[in-house]
Amino acid sequence: MYNDLIKDFAIKKDAVILAIESSCDETAAAVVRGGREILSSEIMSSATEHVRFGGVVPEIASRAHTAAISLTAEKAVESAGINLSDLDAIAVTYGAGLLGALLVGVSYAKTLAYALKKPLIPVSHIRGHLAAAYLVDRDLRPPFVSLLASGGHTAIMVVNDYGKYEVLGGTLDDAVGEAFDKVARVLSLPYPGGPNVEKLAREGEINVTFPKMLKGEGGYNFSYSGLKTAVINYVHGKEQKGEEYSKADVAASFQSAATDILVKKAVQACEEHSLKTLTVGGGVAANGYLRENLTEICEKRGIKLVLPPKKLCTDNAAMIGAEGYIQYLKGNFAALDLNAKARVDLG
Ligand code: KG4
Ligand code: ZN
Repeated sequence: MYNDLIKDFAIKKDAVILAIESSCDETAAAVVRGGREILSSEIMSSATEHVRFGGVVPEIASRAHTAAISLTAEKAVESAGINLSDLDAIAVTYGAGLLGALLVGVSYAKTLAYALKKPLIPVSHIRGHLAAAYLVDRDLRPPFVSLLASGGHTAIMVVNDYGKYEVLGGTLDDAVGEAFDKVARVLSLPYPGGPNVEKLAREGEINVTFPKMLKGEGGYNFSYSGLKTAVINYVHGKEQKGEEYSKADVAASFQSAATDILVKKAVQACEEHSLKTLTVGGGVAANGYLRENLTEICEKRGIKLVLPPKKLCTDNAAMIGAEGYIQYLKGNFAALDLNAKARVDLG
């Protein structure tokens, strides 16, 4: 019966979508109008509960989502100044992420979609990060180049049309955020790793040489695993020999090695494809050093940079609403047997 209902749904250009995100340690809900306008965006994080374990504990995250999901969604609807009946659709992250965590959001969204008799839109978290740019620049239209730098993915792509990606290349092993998190551990920095590496790097100098991460000079593929190992070897080597070293210098040198390549390759992609716009998404795009370098080089090369504010780079539900809208316009709705997926392909 529900499936029959959503078959004949009239698509509205200014659709108001409630988006739900629960793939990791943030329970988030947002209301987005017409895929571009954030009416509200609420986030409750369980990050502090994971600190003493040095990383996200899936069970704790799931429990925290269960406790927070209704309240977060209700707050999002209320602060958008609307009623549930004003919603045109419910979008939800179905993957990639922690299965138990995703399931909380998926179950909640299904229940709400069923109760309100509104379409349910399945959204890929990765595509959500990329769609955050549409919330920043209302005139943004494909084609453009996108740099994705998150905890799970690192890639450079050409966006040919809404939701149509041509991946030029990316990491062959660890994602850039993963490398930040692993280096944070080696430097005994607390969870969350990325922001703490950035903080320490501000006090250091870029004076340690780590290996280049490029796989094939002219291409767009790179490897973070070698860089991570080089940092581990450097730190362990110094400690074993009892030699003094500066953790801040290691952090600064790693940060530069890990992100300079992304800046260089993103600009190369724009120039090779004669595209004058670059968008950036994912948690690592919150990194101040990367943001400054991107801003500087894009200005010099005449590339328009669409750089979402930090809170739209790290996990949030507004970006799920933006991508949800793209899927809504395509009529890509889920049935109520929608399942969560730990891994989702980028393309
Ligand atoms: O995009 P995201 O929030 O989650 C995924 O979808 O993966 O990215 C999380 C990643 C983590 O690895 C985190 O350490 C990194 O983004 N990150 C940062 C910064 N803030 C978050 N890395 C470097 N500098 C930051 N300021
Ligand atoms: Zn994310």
